[in-house]
Amino acid sequence: MPLKITFQKQSPQKNLCLGVYEDGHFPLPTQTWDKTLKGLLSTSLKNSKFKGKLTQTLSVFTPDGGRIILVGLGKKTEQNEKQWQKIGGSLSSVLDASTNGEGAVEIHSLEKADNAQVVAHLALGTLLRSWRFETYFTTKKPEELFSLKKVIFLTPAPDAAEKAFNPLSKIAEGVFLTRTVVTEPANIMTPATLAKVAASLEKDGVKIEILDEKDLKKLGANAILGVGQGSDKESKLVVMRWEGGKKKDDTLAFVGKGVTFDSGGLSLKPANSMEDMKYDMAGAGVVIGLMKALALRKAKVNVVGVIGLVENMPSGTAQRPGDVVTSLSGQTIAVMNTDAEGRLVLADALWYTQSRFKPKLMVDLATLTGAIIVGLGFERAGLFASDDALAKKLTAAGEDVSELLWRMPLDEAYDKDINSDIADVQNVSSSRGGGSITAAKFLQRFTNKVPWAHLDIAGLAWAEKDLPLCAKGASGFGVRLLDRFVAENYEGK
Ligand code: BES
Ligand code: MN
Ligand code: ZN
Repeated sequence: MPLKITFQKQSPQKNLCLGVYEDGHFPLPTQTWDKTLKGLLSTSLKNSKFKGKLTQTLSVFTPDGGRIILVGLGKKTEQNEKQWQKIGGSLSSVLDASTNGEGAVEIHSLEKADNAQVVAHLALGTLLRSWRFETYFTTKKPEELFSLKKVIFLTPAPDAAEKAFNPLSKIAEGVFLTRTVVTEPANIMTPATLAKVAASLEKDGVKIEILDEKDLKKLGANAILGVGQGSDKESKLVVMRWEGGKKKDDTLAFVGKGVTFDSGGLSLKPANSMEDMKYDMAGAGVVIGLMKALALRKAKVNVVGVIGLVENMPSGTAQRPGDVVTSLSGQTIAVMNTDAEGRLVLADALWYTQSRFKPKLMVDLATLTGAIIVGLGFERAGLFASDDALAKKLTAAGEDVSELLWRMPLDEAYDKDINSDIADVQNVSSSRGGGSITAAKFLQRFTNKVPWAHLDIAGLAWAEKDLPLCAKGASGFGVRLLDRFVAENYEGK
């Protein structure tokens, strides 16, 4: 169960949060605070490393059995919704340490702390940072698990805060769905089960179609079928439609790579970290989470989500290096390396999407290349775009929600490296270097000149350590970014 968040004027709870700016300045909240308490606080400040830095916290237990949590607000000049979310996030573990699984938060001395937006974004931060996946622990003691169940945010205007928080909580639900499917192991999250998760959005008003291998064969989607042919699990292509806009409104399309396990196929990966490849369906996971968020908050926009779901396995029926397949687009592809499978899946998914829906734009998400991690590490995802305006909008949305992108080149000059001696195109570059770019150039050949962007999220889908808004593990990176991208640019327009 996710954390329960409520907004109230008062609470019997005794956890009180006191915001402290980086300069150490904190106006005391109430006149009733006695001398002992004031003394306790100033001693705690003096004798600890707590300096009011953004997301720093310090718990001070009071003689009457209560607790005051000092929380760093950072610099006074830098207050904005991203800061408030991070402050909220920093409260998660300190509140979890309380014994009854509940916490009440009243942040005094935060500028405009009575503002509904401030409280709502604090709550969003706490909520996002509190998500855990503990399904498979059966022997841990309660204190070894995350036990915070309920947080009350104290505000003079609970109704306004509730109203501001409502759409944010829907986005969080989308993020949590993404994190869940990305975290589930590959023996559980197969193409069929992932398709079922997508189908569960029907109850939220999303229209679902699931194409199975028979359907894909009939269409001629042999690029995606080739990737899945070594696995005993059936490949799928799932179409999700949210029609919240007017009939005449343009359609926006989001396309996701959903490789539920990437062993590399016959171009087998080394054993080292192969287990990470359960999250090779994160692109598809983000598209599902985004559709959920848009549907729950009834976004006034027409969106289609298309995900290609396969398992990439070696076997007697597996695709061989050197095989040539005829893709849905009609272009023939020489599969030189079966581990460059994500682009094969997306080749058919992108072509299918543009030919059927004639979208105004397409954005695909994929854990596509290890090379993007070499280039950008774990801080920014790679952005490739055929359209400058689209690139700007995505970058700006990312900055708004602290999900950062970095634009990479798509020069024509890179394109020749994926020409093949035997087919129209090959799935790996014949020259060394620039592996993320040539992967993107490959995808571009299947976009039919529709304005298109590709997010290579290989370094961002999984957090190796705790982040301000995400405990170590699946991050859901991309859901909040694309939700903002849609809201900011296309809703109700
Ligand atoms: N799924 C991987 C990329 C990946 C690597 C995602 C690390 C997340 C973390 C992708 O299918 C892959 O194997 N790419 C190859 C391409 C190469 C064979 C041209 C790679 O990056 O090594
Ligand atoms: Mn691969
Ligand atoms: Zn892969």
